[in-house]
Amino acid sequence: MQIQRNPVTAEGKTTTPPAWDAACLEEVCGSCTMVINGKVRQACSALIDKLAQPVSLQPMKKFPLVRDLTVDRGKMFDALRRVRAWIPIDGTYDLGPGPRQAPEEQELRYVLSTCMTCGCCLEVCPQVTPATQFIGAAAISQVRLFNTHRPAPRTRASDCTG
Ligand code: SF4
Ligand code: FES
Repeated sequence: MQIQRNPVTAEGKTTTPPAWDAACLEEVCGSCTMVINGKVRQACSALIDKLAQPVSLQPMKKFPLVRDLTVDRGKMFDALRRVRAWIPIDGTYDLGPGPRQAPEEQELRYVLSTCMTCGCCLEVCPQVTPATQFIGAAAISQVRLFNTHRPAPRTRASDCTG
């Protein structure tokens, strides 16, 4: 933000201000994710006085570059559409109380539900490359979340080998 206020090149020549995404400024939306001092993380929670100087900023490399530090994270949202990672509801209705959940189920589901589609997991994953079709951990963890709501399959007598 300081560079944005006075954008100059290393030679001191005035240049265009850098571009990056940000929305929540409290590490909830994931839009400000970039590579800071070689590590992918959210920029809004990277406190400048806690970082080694000089600070290096790079865009994530697993997503198409839009400009400067802005990338197009659209493929993650496409992946969420592919796995249908949402509750189909149109409007607000009184659905009554949901099924009761055991505390250990809640703990697992809560962690999985905190994905903010930031892209860090795709950035660091060696399996996410242009040569693979792997959609990445973000969408897979939502599949895991939604599958925890499926009833456990019944064991059939024919499944027993003992
Ligand atoms: S699962 Fe991936 S996209 Fe979701 S919050 Fe974690 S690192 Fe970010
Ligand atoms: S601006 Fe939302 S996570 Fe940083």
